[in-house]
Amino acid sequence: MDNFNFYSPTEFVFGKDRESECGEYVKKYGGSKVLIHYGGGSAERSGLLGRVRESLNKNGISFVELGGVKPNPRDTLVYKGIDLCRSEGVDFILAVGGGSSIDSAKAIAAGVPYDGDFWDFYSGKSIEKALPIGVVLTIAAAGSEGSGDSVITKEDGMLKRGAGSDVLRSKFSILNPALTQTLPAYQTACGATDIMAHVFERYFTNTTEVEITDRLCEAVLITMVKETPRVIADPDNYDARANIMWAGMVAHNGLVGVGRSQDWNSHGIEHELSALYDCAHGAGLAVIMPSWMEFVYKHNVMRFCQMATRVFGCQMNFENPESTALEGIRRFRSFLHSIGMPINFAELGAKEEDIPALVEKFGIGRRRTGGFVALSADDITEIYKIAAKASL
Ligand code: NZQ
Ligand code: ZN
Repeated sequence: MDNFNFYSPTEFVFGKDRESECGEYVKKYGGSKVLIHYGGGSAERSGLLGRVRESLNKNGISFVELGGVKPNPRDTLVYKGIDLCRSEGVDFILAVGGGSSIDSAKAIAAGVPYDGDFWDFYSGKSIEKALPIGVVLTIAAAGSEGSGDSVITKEDGMLKRGAGSDVLRSKFSILNPALTQTLPAYQTACGATDIMAHVFERYFTNTTEVEITDRLCEAVLITMVKETPRVIADPDNYDARANIMWAGMVAHNGLVGVGRSQDWNSHGIEHELSALYDCAHGAGLAVIMPSWMEFVYKHNVMRFCQMATRVFGCQMNFENPESTALEGIRRFRSFLHSIGMPINFAELGAKEEDIPALVEKFGIGRRRTGGFVALSADDITEIYKIAAKASL
């Protein structure tokens, strides 16, 4: 196991009706003038925003609002948010929604105290200061409620890039699983795929002797394999929703990846798809991640056998371990298909002729090439080609 620091300062406030306490938590963390930042309308329709406003009013906290965050959040709204916070003297941002609203809130939070263009942070500059943020989460997926990361798309050129800093970590995150019951099944499944992908990016490592984090990763994956079909079949199953919501946080606040190298190429390869086609990140991952696995499994066949046997219940074939590794990948892809995810380009709405453009964009301004297997541009082309034609 490698040396590590683990820092996860967020206060998680979990359970039914907890959103009605958001005013108390804003106060606790020093907010006096709040920007409520949210998405395209689901939080208004469900009555959630009404309860958030009521809680802030009850606690004597004034606020302004900025809605309209799109999935794959855009830089243009971030600039608006920065201007609004400055002109209104906002000192705390409350994101109400999913990863997109939270990531947009983080970008605004970093941009307000910064003299330059906030996009500098998404081009490699480190973030030293940000306004404090809080979260009311409505979808279990990106894990942004516990992570220090933010992913924004620059509309000019549709470049999707991430920034990360511990100063972006939310002061508090309110997780009420009942809020996720209004999600369409497709979004629930996209979220589940993203959660599993966050674990796999850490699970496939070159670091040895990491039993504890291997087992934590497997616990999250097994939970997702068990609970996701339950919520697809019964969207109002609170307990299954609760397990998934907490799994989404555990998958991405850093805990299951400490002390080991991580990969993250599948995320980079996927981000080019969601930037170009504006598809859901989880759906893009469903197409890319099993394809990446097929491309790299020979690098460490036994690690893929471990996944196959421990997570997907495959029988180990000692005469032919490769067949076990491939069976695990096959079961992962067919699990994704069973919950309604696309598994190839056609099902996602992507086009094979765009592969050269996707590979070219992947190369712009990225510093990481993968901690499990470093990939060349030709390798990435090959992975897109496998993804284009994938079948069960
Ligand atoms: O905008 P509204 O109307 O709220 O609708 C949203 C949106 O259409 C809807 N939705 C959310 N909660 C709902 C709901 N609909 C009904 N009932 C509810 N309770 O779901 C759609 C997707 O929302 P979004 O916030 O985009 O989802 P998600 O949480 O999957 O976030 C995706 C973004 O996060 C980034 C992705 O790349 C993508 O841009 N990521 C962020 C990460 C991070 N910050 O740590 C890590 C991830 O790997 C990921 O890259
Ligand atoms: Zn993700």
